[in-house]
Amino acid sequence: MEVPVVFRFELVLSLALAMTIATAAQAPAPAPSPSLSPAPAPAPAFANITQVLINAGDYATLVGYLTSTGVGEKFQAQANRTDVGITIFAPKNKAFTTNPAASLLKGISFRNLEALLEYHALNNWESLADLQQMTDNVTSTFATYNSGGRYQLNITNVQGQVQVDTEWNRATIASTLYNAQPVSIFALDEVLLPTDIFGLPAPAPAPAPSSGAPTPGPSSSSSPSSSSAGGAASGPSGGNSFATHSSSPATVFSLLLLALLMKIIA
Ligand SMILES: *[C@@H]1O[C@H](CO)[C@@H](O)[C@H](O)[C@H]1NC(C)=O
Ligand SMILES: *[C@@H]1O[C@H](CO)[C@@H](O)[C@H](O)[C@H]1NC(C)=O
Ligand SMILES: *[C@@H]1O[C@H](CO)[C@@H](O)[C@H](O)[C@H]1NC(C)=O
Ligand SMILES: *[C@@H]1O[C@H](CO)[C@@H](O)[C@H](O)[C@H]1NC(C)=O
Repeated sequence: MEVPVVFRFELVLSLALAMTIATAAQAPAPAPSPSLSPAPAPAPAFANITQVLINAGDYATLVGYLTSTGVGEKFQAQANRTDVGITIFAPKNKAFTTNPAASLLKGISFRNLEALLEYHALNNWESLADLQQMTDNVTSTFATYNSGGRYQLNITNVQGQVQVDTEWNRATIASTLYNAQPVSIFALDEVLLPTDIFGLPAPAPAPAPSSGAPTPGPSSSSSPSSSSAGGAASGPSGGNSFATHSSSPATVFSLLLLALLMKIIA
């Protein structure tokens, strides 16, 4: 008589717990990501970055810059290091002819163009799935190497969409051009603009000028306190309410079922 009562109590308790956890975990349903290419081939075959971009179409400007600066060659050398690989953000043709990039790129020095291009790659292979795990990841780029920790990008999954932020602008991955170890190439509708070259964007025309003290930045919300000086200073601490690794309800249920089974057997 005693055993069933205890068992029933535990069952109710477990069910209540399960429902609580399942409810909590069901919050941010991962939105369907943009047009992914079909299942990537597992074999780490040689990936010719230039050829991938040419085949994808719409990247003639990027290919031209990569070739004329020699940065394409550096990217390929990195891609050839199959143990680390490379992740490339590829702006489409139109991105280069759209402002503010178009006007900022006018008359850019060779050295800065080089850095700008190198800003569009990470020194390691990250799959789309890897990027989708990132939250506020202020990370080094290919351009960071010789620049004392500057040229950082902030990568964040915003409801299934991977956002790449500079302090100047923000781009969303539009599609996947290549996604197989050790190379991934993602399409962007914008050129990533490093503040290390262009400084911070001019503040939007203020409504009431002429008053004495200069007003702070236009964004009322938490500013990321720019200053490229210390590099990497901005920690990931952010009060983000979305858990990065939320266990799925299915997993929670399986675990609880297992626990229940063990209780019954014991
Ligand atoms: C990669 O593709 C480009 C464009 O077709 C070609 O010029 C280059 O020779 C290729 N590189 C290698 C290593 O195959
Ligand atoms: C990359 O590897 C390919 C194939 O082995 C080779 O032909 C090419 O020269 C290499 N490119 C660089 C830049 O290392
Ligand atoms: C941040 O991005 C880098 C890639 O540049 C990756 O190696 C690292 O694991 C990421 N960190 C987190 C917490 O996602
Ligand atoms: C990183 O980007 C996300 C998404 O755009 C933004 O919410 C966050 O404030 C940024 N973090 C930093 C440190 O810039």
